[in-house]
Formats: sequence, structure tokens, C-alpha cells
Amino acid sequence: MKILITGGLGYIGSHVATVLLQNGMDVIIVDNLENSRIQVLDGIQFITGKTPVFRQMDVSDASEMNQLFDDFSDCAGIIHFAAYKSVSESVSEPLRYYDNNLGGLQLLLKHATSKAIPLIFSSSCTVYGQSETLPIREDEPLKEATSPYGSTKRIGERIIEDCCKAYPKFNAILLRYFNPIGAHSSAKIGEYPIGIPQNLVPFLTQTVRGIRPILKVFGSKYDTADGTCIRDYIHVVDLAEAHVESLNYLLKKQNSEACEVYNVGTGNGVSVLELIRAFENATGKSVPYEPSDPRPGDTIAAYADASKIEQKIGWKARYTLEEALLSAWEWEKRINH
Ligand code: UD1
Repeated sequence: MKILITGGLGYIGSHVATVLLQNGMDVIIVDNLENSRIQVLDGIQFITGKTPVFRQMDVSDASEMNQLFDDFSDCAGIIHFAAYKSVSESVSEPLRYYDNNLGGLQLLLKHATSKAIPLIFSSSCTVYGQSETLPIREDEPLKEATSPYGSTKRIGERIIEDCCKAYPKFNAILLRYFNPIGAHSSAKIGEYPIGIPQNLVPFLTQTVRGIRPILKVFGSKYDTADGTCIRDYIHVVDLAEAHVESLNYLLKKQNSEACEVYNVGTGNGVSVLELIRAFENATGKSVPYEPSDPRPGDTIAAYADASKIEQKIGWKARYTLEEALLSAWEWEKRINH
């Protein structure tokens, strides 16, 4: 069975490729290498002993997409990651974000809907904004996006929902991820942050490695137990398995609705200070950090009610926070910046 992964050499896509190959699927990776590295392919091959098909191309190029779907007309499923993901960059370059994230999705949907190929879409808990209730359920009302990046996720979800209504044979799952962290246990694939990391864990591991002088903890007086923000950090391998199980569920036609939406998180809310302590416990390394001003636009607390995906699809996170942080550290020690 052939599965297409767009953005398959990126952080989450590469872990999904690995799990699919280990489950005996054939994998076609499409990636334009703009924010990823070709060496990731070697990592995937090392881990799985298998060679996925790789095509360097842009999902927003119509003729290349036509060629792709002609060449792989027997593609059984699509997992779509190819998108830009920097919140700050999206604010300064909104058109680039709308063009790439939504233009690429629309072209992909043209092919997926006409051939009724099931699709897994990479969405984000960013669509909830600051939720009124915690933990966050999938039926929580969505908030106005605070950045063009967030907007592309929200509009992307809507476009897919509309397609599922219009084309009765087309089915999709929207996965709303919480905060993916960590790397494969082999330390052969992981996250390559571009420039100075914006996300907490890569910034933290670079600080411990001595690349950054100190970790600034954004905000210390929030209305939380220790005053710092709360998130739901999920091991990227758990997240990858959630994709594969969701795809299998669609392929076996176990879905009750044409478009279903699931949170993918652990269900545990963890503060920034708790995460720092967990890292120190897991690795024995101390983290240089200092309290700092809040980061504008930060959500105070967001963590998943992950019971729906467990009940309907049978997926549940297996890794602890410490295991995820240890894997992030093993990866950090291996990579060259
Ligand atoms: C961020 C994005 C979100 C995106 C997600 C992808 C913003 C405002 N939000 O979410 O849209 O979907 O990444 O993973 O950029 N922190 C520090 N010091 C740091 C870095 C982060 O204290 O140097 C804190 C933050 O305030 C936050 C927590 O760590 O409380 C996690 O931050 P981060 O990893 O950037 O993720 P999100 O803010 O959840």
C-alpha cells in the first residue's frame, strides 16, 4: 500500500515515514527541502532498513502535482505536512504563508477528492487559542487566529471540511497537535531548528549545550500554580504513531463521519518550570534559566482532553515527559548547528 507524505523530510513527517515503513507500507516522500535536509532520508533508511521513494518538489506547483499523481495513481492515502510553521515569520510575510500553506493544500485536495484518497491533515491546538475550559475537548469553540500561521491552520481545516461535504467519497481526519518534542530513540532523526529556536525544548537543549547563554522563561506571574505557562508536551514518536493509526482507521473505513477531528496530546498540563525540572531529572544536567517578560500573544494554558482519539481510534501516548526530554537531549548532542 503506497502512502504519500508531503513535507516528509520535516520534523514530524520524517518520524511518520519511519513508523509507516516499519508497518510495512510503501512510502512516497515529497519535500522541497526549503526547511529540511536531504540527510534525513539517510536517517529514515538507517532506522527502517528501507528506502522510501523521494521526490524533491513543491506541493504548490500544479504541473509537478499532476505528474506526481499520474506516476503514483495507486496512492492509497495522504498525510499532509508540507507547510510553513513560524508564527513570527507569518506575521511579516502573510502572503507567503497563505500561498504556500493554503495553495498547496488546495492543489492536493484537487487530486485527493477526485480520486477519493483519504487524507490526514496536520492541524494545531493553536485553533483553540486561550480555551475557556481545560482540558480542551475537540468541540471547544474555536478562536479567531492571532497570526497568519494560525489562520492557515483554521482555514485549512475548513477547506477540508467543505470538501468532505461536497465529495461524499472523500474522507479526512484533522489532527490538532499540542506541543511535539523529542526525537527518535536512535537519534538519527529529530528537529533541526532554523536559526534561533522559537520553541522551548530546542532552545533549552541548545542552552544546556552552551550554544545559547541562558533560557528565558517567558512570564512568571500567570495565574497558574507556579506562575509560568502550561502546555501539553507530546513525544514526536507518539505523535507519529497517532498519524499512522488514524490513517489505518480511515483505510479500514471505521470512521463514522467523512471529516473527523482529534486532539493529539498526552492530556497532562506541564508548566515551563516543571519541564525544566523534568529535563534536569532525566539528563542530570542543570539548565541555566532566568525569569523574563511574558511573550506577546502566548496562551496561558493549553492541554488536551485526549480521550476521543483513544476511544475511537485506540491511540494513546506511551512516552513520559522525561523520556521525551531525554530523547531531545540525545538528539541535541548529535547534531551540528
Ligand atoms: C508555538 C506557537 C504555536 C505553534 C507551536 C508549534 C507561538 C506564540 N506559538 O506554541 O502557534 O503551533 O509553537 O510547536 O509562537 N517558552 C519560554 N522560553 C522560550 C521559549 C518558550 O519560556 O525561550 C515558553 C512559552 O512561553 C510557552 C512554552 O515555553 O509557555 C512553550 O513555547 P513554544 O515551544 O514556543 O510553544 P507554544 O507557545 O505552545
